Amino acid sequence: MERVTVPIPGRSYDVVIGTGVVAGAAEHLPAFPKAARAFVVADRSVADRWFEPLSAALGLRALHAVLLAVPAGEDAKTLQVYGTLVHQLATQEAHRDDVVVALGGGTTGDLAGYVASTYMRGVPFVQVPTTLTAQVDAAIGGKTAVNLPEGKNLVGTFYQPAAVLCDVDALATLDDRDYRAGLAEVAKYALTLDLDLLDQLERDPGPVLTRDPATLERLVARCVAAKARTVGADERDTGLRLVLNYGHTLGHALERLDAFGGRSHGEAIAIGMVFAARLAEERGLCAAGLAARTARLLNALGLETDGALPPVREILAAFRMDKKFLGGSRFVLLEDVGRPVVVEGVTDAELGAILVEMGAGR
Ligand SMILES: NC(=O)c1ccc[n+]([C@@H]2O[C@H](COP(=O)([O-])OP(=O)(O)OC[C@H]3O[C@@H](n4cnc5c(N)ncnc54)[C@H](O)[C@@H]3O)[C@@H](O)[C@H]2O)c1
Ligand SMILES: [Zn+2]
Repeated sequence: MERVTVPIPGRSYDVVIGTGVVAGAAEHLPAFPKAARAFVVADRSVADRWFEPLSAALGLRALHAVLLAVPAGEDAKTLQVYGTLVHQLATQEAHRDDVVVALGGGTTGDLAGYVASTYMRGVPFVQVPTTLTAQVDAAIGGKTAVNLPEGKNLVGTFYQPAAVLCDVDALATLDDRDYRAGLAEVAKYALTLDLDLLDQLERDPGPVLTRDPATLERLVARCVAAKARTVGADERDTGLRLVLNYGHTLGHALERLDAFGGRSHGEAIAIGMVFAARLAEERGLCAAGLAARTARLLNALGLETDGALPPVREILAAFRMDKKFLGGSRFVLLEDVGRPVVVEGVTDAELGAILVEMGAGR
């Protein structure tokens, strides 16, 4: 069992990582004085496996668990589903001391967090992430969101959970595609913030690929620690936290242009990290070879780094929608592995040239 504290002033909380963490939830959760019920937001397939053990554990703390079922995947992150959930809370007379629990992937967590942060102006919130993406990234740091047709994550809040429980046993049932998508976020931490992790993944990705539980516990804990440090230094995403968006500008654009139905988040950011490395090389910011090294790492983790891209003009238009893309030109790039910098003033001509090299049409 590993425990990592997310050091947000006044609202610090612990992330517990290990096997059997859901069954042991009664021991790991903080006190929720006056809470009678826990409203557990989950999609059907996650609920089928995990609602009962979670419900039994909450019962040991005299919390009655109520399941609120939502669609799986990105379909959950809509204003409509949000509306349905807050109505359900209101009709069931959820109290301001009751707890909202997100049980599932990053989509469930983003949605449930937005519900928890807004229902009665905020009720206690717990994250129980069950995908690798959610355990290493989405469940930590307090960003909540739903999507609009105009773009991803355009409506949301900053709202920290009271606790995060990462049960690595859940990762055993993830399909390969979802697991690999999480490995893209793992690679992001390794490339930007954790050279020991990078070394370990480059030397032998085997135990990670076979999902060895002890390896997963250490892997998730390392990534959570990297995210916790970053978020602790910059809760509101104005400086250091931007680093966590490495590869995400192109990633978000690709997700958006696929109308959220094509590449997964992780698959899209894998391509985005290679793109960022090429941009850094092109600008002479880093030594030649970073893009090839990035692609090698991602390919070894089972992630594709080539494949069809939308036309350049559509990608450039999508960049302008990105919240991080201030003034149309800001990117997180690497001077070397482990040395991220924010670069301003990148032109459409530079971006377009690299996109064409990577196979995008004009
Ligand atoms: N808030 C943040 O800081 C942050 C950070 C990164 C990503 N995100 C968001 O997270 C979302 C992606 O999250 P995701 O990759 O977890 O995808 P997801 O939530 O869509 O889950 C993927 C699929 O895995 C299934 N699943 C979940 N747990 C499972 C398990 N244990 N076994 C088998 N199947 C399981 C789900 O039913 C779903 O179909 C995106 O919307 C992204 O924007 C948010
Ligand atoms: Zn991400």
